Amino acid sequence: MSLPKAELHLHIEGTLEPELAFELAARNGVELPYADTDALRKAYRFEDLQSFLNLYYELMAVLRTERDFEDLANAYLARAAAQGVRHAEIFFDPQAHIARGVEMGTVVEGLWRALARSEDAHGVSTQLIMCFLRDESAQSALETLEAAKPYLDRIVGVGLDSAEVGHPPVKFREVYEAAAALGLRRVAHAGEEGPPEYIVEALDVLGVERIDHGLRCMESPELVARLVRDRVPLTLCPLSNVRLRTVDVLADHPLPAMLDAGLLCTVNSDDPAYFGGYAGDNFDSVQKTLGLTEERLRELARNSFLASFLEHDEGRRER
Ligand code: ADE
Ligand code: ZN
Repeated sequence: MSLPKAELHLHIEGTLEPELAFELAARNGVELPYADTDALRKAYRFEDLQSFLNLYYELMAVLRTERDFEDLANAYLARAAAQGVRHAEIFFDPQAHIARGVEMGTVVEGLWRALARSEDAHGVSTQLIMCFLRDESAQSALETLEAAKPYLDRIVGVGLDSAEVGHPPVKFREVYEAAAALGLRRVAHAGEEGPPEYIVEALDVLGVERIDHGLRCMESPELVARLVRDRVPLTLCPLSNVRLRTVDVLADHPLPAMLDAGLLCTVNSDDPAYFGGYAGDNFDSVQKTLGLTEERLRELARNSFLASFLEHDEGRRER
């Protein structure tokens, strides 16, 4: 699907394809516990979010140098461009790298080498969103924000990801207040596996502008009414939801009902190397399986620019 679109929910570490994982492992002398790319691909059967996260964090061991992060981002941007992505707001998980002895500067500067050339090389504008791991402590998130201070000219905002249930947004009130004071934009994963109350908390306590996933808002008519009224964008990831068993099969995905309800939905890929498709593949899949009309698809593409952190004029030009 080459409809021009913005991708607003994409974890750069989730774009690590098996071939690149093995290439980087060889380059860095890291031993992977898989015989080859086929064996690794066979491990991509997930029961839930946690079973995916276990593999996601394990494979990060191959990412060690600036060049590794540059290669990772370049590979993503080339694939995204080929699927019609014109603008990408890219999550990264610094705590998962710092815990392995890879410094914040290595991650940000490495990614930046690719991002700085992206408009020329791929025709894709980019922004970086630094995520806090919600299954780590609030103190660790504060230290991560501190470590990011020398790089804030490269970072547009903060997000919240990793294992959701048992780690409500309120745990991160202080770091989100500090991020807001630094002029950073705010988003958070909420309502992927966690309850609708986490979405309400992300809005009320963390002051987020967008909800990543937000699927479980559909359990609360009152919350749906609020999200519609306030035009709060939801960054949905349909193929991710199927692979992580948030929905049983794509045909059961609530996207059509969400659009009918008037929610400002966008379609994104989350961790495309693991979930079977990039942004355009997600568009194709919902078109085919959910029978979305051309008009609905154009609405989704338009929403992606509206919900982006691009200046409004730029957003209008893209449409
Ligand atoms: N980190 C990477 N992908 C994620 C997802 N889908 N949910 C929460 N944390 C993540
Ligand atoms: Zn995500």
